[in-house]
Amino acid sequence: MEVLTKLEVKDLSHSYGSHRVLKGLNFAVGDGEFLSILGPSGCGKTTILRNLIGLVPPDSGSIFKDGLDITRRKPSERGMGIVFQNYALFQNMTALGNVEYALRFNENFRGRARQIAQEMLALVGLEAFAAKKPAGLSGGQQQRVAIARTLALNPEIILFDEPMSALDAAARLSLREELKGIQRRFNSTMIYVTHDQEEAFALSDRIMVMDRGEIQQIDTPRNLIERPANAFVSEFVVDNLRRKINSLAQYVEITR
Ligand SMILES: Nc1ncnc2c1ncn2[C@@H]1O[C@H](COP(=O)(O)OP(=O)(O)O)[C@@H](O)[C@H]1O
Ligand SMILES: [Mg+2]
Repeated sequence: MEVLTKLEVKDLSHSYGSHRVLKGLNFAVGDGEFLSILGPSGCGKTTILRNLIGLVPPDSGSIFKDGLDITRRKPSERGMGIVFQNYALFQNMTALGNVEYALRFNENFRGRARQIAQEMLALVGLEAFAAKKPAGLSGGQQQRVAIARTLALNPEIILFDEPMSALDAAARLSLREELKGIQRRFNSTMIYVTHDQEEAFALSDRIMVMDRGEIQQIDTPRNLIERPANAFVSEFVVDNLRRKINSLAQYVEITR
């Protein structure tokens, strides 16, 4: 089956003052694809997401969704949602209130806000916690609320910015499974930023490896291991993964 292109980025550049952070990026994401952006801290990952969702305008370049140029559209008109590392929940609202809140401002959902919010909390396994405030939830549960809030608006593309970096190992593993389940169920296009090789390999259809504002390689997990494009990919990706996992071949088998 032919995979349609959901998102296409052409020649995207971004600077903060005189510091050029993204240097002419070109990539495309397929409809329903899970693409990770993997690179060391400071390489420009968050800046890519901020450009995609429209929080900052690029210096130059274009972003296309379903073939339409959305480079100048407002964030709310891009059909994208984002999940941050630090959850960004309202502390004075319950889990249900946090999910419901965004829906109340959207005329398509307003009348059904409570019902949709309840469904989304159930989807991430938190029905029993709907009345709790963030302080009464674990980190993993708070991130589930943030994911439910993003899913509730039914975005075509979901962006994740290191959503698991504040969680312990057990919470990460269960949230990984949850994300894969959500992607299968909604068939959403997901772009997932991480500096964690293992996480990228466990989750992704393809991985875009970045260093210093440039794409080093975009490929499947298997191809990255078998045919790293350059020394950076082979050291930052393959060697680091090998240090974490004993048998790479076996790892690729069990995770795909
Ligand atoms: N608001 C900003 N003002 C100035 N420099 C920034 C700003 N945000 C990020 N940077 C710089 O841009 C580079 C890329 O940052 P970022 O996109 O956050 O990288 P990553 O998410 O991969 O860690 C870094 O050198 C960072 O210090
Ligand atoms: Mg970042």
